[in-house]
Amino acid sequence: MMGASSKRKSLLRSIRKPQLGPAKTAKADTRLLDAEQFLLPTYKRPPVVMTHGRGAYVFDSTGKKYLDFLGGIAVNALGHAHPRIVKVIRHEAARAIHLSNLFHNAYQGPLARKLAGWSGMDRAFFSNSGTEAIDGAMKLARLFGRKSEEAPGTAAEKHRFLALENSFHGRTFGAISVTATEKYRLPFAPVVPGVEFVRFNDVPDLEAKFDDTVCGILLETVLGEGGIYPVSEVFWNRARSLATQHGALLIADEIQCGLGRTGRCFAYQKFSSRPDVALIAKPLAAGLPLGAILTTEELASRLSPGMHGTTFGGGPLACAVALEFLKIVEDEKLLENIRARGAELRDGLTKLASKFNFIREIRGEGLMIGIELSIEGAPFVSEAMQRGLLINCTHDFTLRLLPPFIITRAQVREFLTLFELVLATTTQQASTPDSGKSANPQRVAHAAAR
Ligand SMILES: Cc1ncc(COP(=O)(O)O)c(C=O)c1O
Repeated sequence: MMGASSKRKSLLRSIRKPQLGPAKTAKADTRLLDAEQFLLPTYKRPPVVMTHGRGAYVFDSTGKKYLDFLGGIAVNALGHAHPRIVKVIRHEAARAIHLSNLFHNAYQGPLARKLAGWSGMDRAFFSNSGTEAIDGAMKLARLFGRKSEEAPGTAAEKHRFLALENSFHGRTFGAISVTATEKYRLPFAPVVPGVEFVRFNDVPDLEAKFDDTVCGILLETVLGEGGIYPVSEVFWNRARSLATQHGALLIADEIQCGLGRTGRCFAYQKFSSRPDVALIAKPLAAGLPLGAILTTEELASRLSPGMHGTTFGGGPLACAVALEFLKIVEDEKLLENIRARGAELRDGLTKLASKFNFIREIRGEGLMIGIELSIEGAPFVSEAMQRGLLINCTHDFTLRLLPPFIITRAQVREFLTLFELVLATTTQQASTPDSGKSANPQRVAHAAAR
C-alpha cells in the first residue's frame, strides 16, 4: 500500500496547477493537496482557493478578482464583508457565541418576532441549515396528521408526503426522501416511505395523487436546483385547497427563493393564500449557518418541550446577525433594488437571447434568474470563471444567476458585458470541428422536453 508521504508526492505530481489566476507562476498549492488527500470526494471543484470577498466581488489566492453572480448559492445576499454585519459579528463574538437552548438569549425572540412580520406566520423554530428545517417540517406534518386514537409508535394512517418533480430539499434523510433527483436519493434507499412526486404545475396530477393519507405537500415556491421555475398561481391555489380539504400541511420551501430573493419578502406573497409552514435558511444570517421553520399558532400548539430541538440552532451570534440582515434589507431598501436590478438583468439577457440562438428562455423573478440553453451549460461556467465571473449551471442546461441584493446598476452592466463575451467565446470553442462539444441533438431534445 502507498504510504501517506508517497501518496502526497504522487498527488503533488498529478494535481493540476491553478490555471485560472493571472500570470503569476503557479506552484502547486498545498491547500489543494490537503483537500485532495483528506476531504471526502463529494464535490468537483476547480483548482482554485478562494480567500476573501468585498461587496459583490470574490478574490482567490492569486489575487484574481471575480464578479460574484452566484452569491455562495443564494447565501451572500449582502455580498461580502458588509460593514454592519462585520460590526455585529465582532461585537457579539466578544460577548457570547453560544449559550445553549436551555436558556433564552437576547436575539432569538426578537428575530422570531421580526420574521413573523416578514412572513405573516406566528412562530419560529431555529435550525442550523435548510435541510434540518425540512426534516423538522416533515416531523410537524406527521404530528399534525396523527389522530389522537392512533397509538404512539404505530405508523400513522396519514403519513404520506407529496413533493414536486425536479425538487431539491436538502441532504438529510427526510429531505432526500422528498427530493426528486434520483442521484441524490436512490443510492441511500430505503428512504422515508410514502413519498410521491407530482409533475410540476400539473393540477390534474396533483389532484390524482392527493388523498386523506397525505400529511404534507412540499413546494419550492420557485424551483431552484430544478432550473428556476416558479410555481403557478393555479397550482398553488389548488395545492392550498387540497391541503385544507385533506387535513394536510402546505409547506413552502423558501430556502433559496425566500427572504427577498424574488423582490418580495417571501416568494409566496404573490399568491392570495399562505402556506401552513414556511422554511428559510441560506441568506438568513448573512453567511453564518441558520435556518428556520415558520408556522402558525395552531401548529405550534401541537408541540411540547422535548419533541424537537437542536444544540446550535438559534445561537446568539447567528440570531444577532440575522436581525441585522433583515434590518439592512429594510434600511437599504434592497427589495426595490432586487426588483429594479432583476428587471435590468432580464432585459439585457433577453437582448442577448436574440443574438445567441442557443439561449432558449430567460426565467425567474427578482435576482433569481435561469437562462435555459439548448446546449450544455458547464463549459459556460468554466469560461465565465476564466473571465472573472462566478455563475452556476443547474440541471445541465440552465445557467443560474443568484447575485447579491446589493448589486448595483454598474455591476449589472459589467455582468452583461462579461457574459456576452462568455457566450461568444464558449460557442466559438464548442463549434470548432475537433472540440467535440457542439450541440448534441439528443440534449437539445431533452431540454425541449423539460
Ligand atoms: C430549495 C432548497 N431547499 C433546501 C436546501 C437545503 O439547504 P441546506 O443546504 O442549508 O441544508 C437547499 C439548498 O440548496 C435549497 O436550495
